[in-house]
Amino acid sequence: MNREQKYRLLEQASPEEITALTDLVNECPWRQTFHVQPIMGLLNDPNGFSFYEGEYHLFYQWFPLGTYHGMKYWYHTKSKDLAFWHNEGIAIVPKDPIDSHGAYSGSAIVKDNKLHLIYTGNTRDSKWNRRPYQCLAIMNEEGFINKQNTPLVDHVPEGYTDHFRDPKVWKDDDMYRFVIGAQREDLTGAAVVYESSDFKEWRYQGEIKTNLGHFGYMWECPDYFELEGKGVFIFSPQGLTPEQDRFQNIYQSGYLIGKPLDRKTLELDHGEFEELDRGFDFYAPQTMVDEKGRRIMIAWMGQAEVAYPTDSHGWAHCLTIPRELKIRHGKLIQQPVPELQKLRGRSIVIQDMIENEVRTYEGVRGTTFEMVCEFSAVKAAAVGIVIRASQQEQTIIRYDKTNKKITLNRAESGNLSDGTNNAIRSCRLDSENIKFHLFVDTSSVEVFINDGEEVFTSRIFPQSGSEEIRFFTEEGSAHMTMTKWDLAQAVD
Ligand code: FRU
Repeated sequence: MNREQKYRLLEQASPEEITALTDLVNECPWRQTFHVQPIMGLLNDPNGFSFYEGEYHLFYQWFPLGTYHGMKYWYHTKSKDLAFWHNEGIAIVPKDPIDSHGAYSGSAIVKDNKLHLIYTGNTRDSKWNRRPYQCLAIMNEEGFINKQNTPLVDHVPEGYTDHFRDPKVWKDDDMYRFVIGAQREDLTGAAVVYESSDFKEWRYQGEIKTNLGHFGYMWECPDYFELEGKGVFIFSPQGLTPEQDRFQNIYQSGYLIGKPLDRKTLELDHGEFEELDRGFDFYAPQTMVDEKGRRIMIAWMGQAEVAYPTDSHGWAHCLTIPRELKIRHGKLIQQPVPELQKLRGRSIVIQDMIENEVRTYEGVRGTTFEMVCEFSAVKAAAVGIVIRASQQEQTIIRYDKTNKKITLNRAESGNLSDGTNNAIRSCRLDSENIKFHLFVDTSSVEVFINDGEEVFTSRIFPQSGSEEIRFFTEEGSAHMTMTKWDLAQAVD
């Protein structure tokens, strides 16, 4: 892919090219039904997730003209209830000198009754040197978005490279602050903070002081907030080395929890870095707090530099379902927002004792559904669920009680994303009984375990005929209770 091709604006494409892309998308067997997805082209990070004028606004990184990372726009979608989403169209077109090579990731905050979108304007000079600007666009009550020509920050502070992006803004009592992802000149990742009392003059405050030392070569998409009296710092480090079950994907997303960030010294007293998700496809999460005071997170259900089977169908990636964050025993837990229950249609309930066998039930099948399945009185060595199954395909979620491990196995889930390390993800879990809460869409699965203690988020690309659901126990018995709901179409 040459540069001219990659950095094209939508208006540079012919109507025939766009029709051809749209046709490809429409023929794709893996379009989602309740996950936000691009009308064509590539989606990546969620941006500007906010609540404004009685609605949830969600933007995302979008390259319309292919499934590679090219000229990024902000695309806008909104929802009254976090369940049904409506496409609003393009929000930010990257065609000004301060964002000439992409309107990169950023966030939103309501100020003076207007939604302020702050983002990184990515630019390149004739020698292809990168220069990032931190930019502002303002959306009014009618949804009209006005880009401001003057950047909030027009240079990278000393000590950092031009990998300097993804401002996440919040308001303290008397100050606006944003945290931004950075790379130090010694090529290690960091996050730095800016502050402003008027949203015009932004002062560089310094780096968030963690005890992580050298921890990857770049931190993307940082997010800082307080929850239940604790300071929570989420970021997406690039360049971590895999350690047993951890850090298996190309890039990671995780968090530090500790005391609230010291606003003067920027010290963060924190525990271990924990991954947010254990699946294959989860990156660049962003949170917001809504009018009910809930901290809600959405992430990109994808990874950079990995090919996906939808690429040849003219589109790539989707966003995760919204999840509410809470803290339990010092750990961040994620629960699907209850509004998703609005999508529920026909339900079926089964209770059974399963002993060393694989069971299926009349009417329990499907390609898009929600399911809560609990195994109790577990005497078996392992219990689990098989979804999207047929004679050729299956996706297995298994709890190995003896070895205290949860595994998601997509080795036979159909068409796989490329890469060598793409079949199994695991994590440790020590639990008497086990509860699986699944959200399965045409080409994805999100598994919430024990009410959000662990989550596995993954794309899978089975054939539409693979719709069996099986329940099993190995070497012993367990009692199984499950409810499954069909889900309504919820996205444009
Ligand atoms: C993360 C990221 C961000 C950047 C955006 C560009 O996936 O690389 O750091 O702003 O994507 O699309």
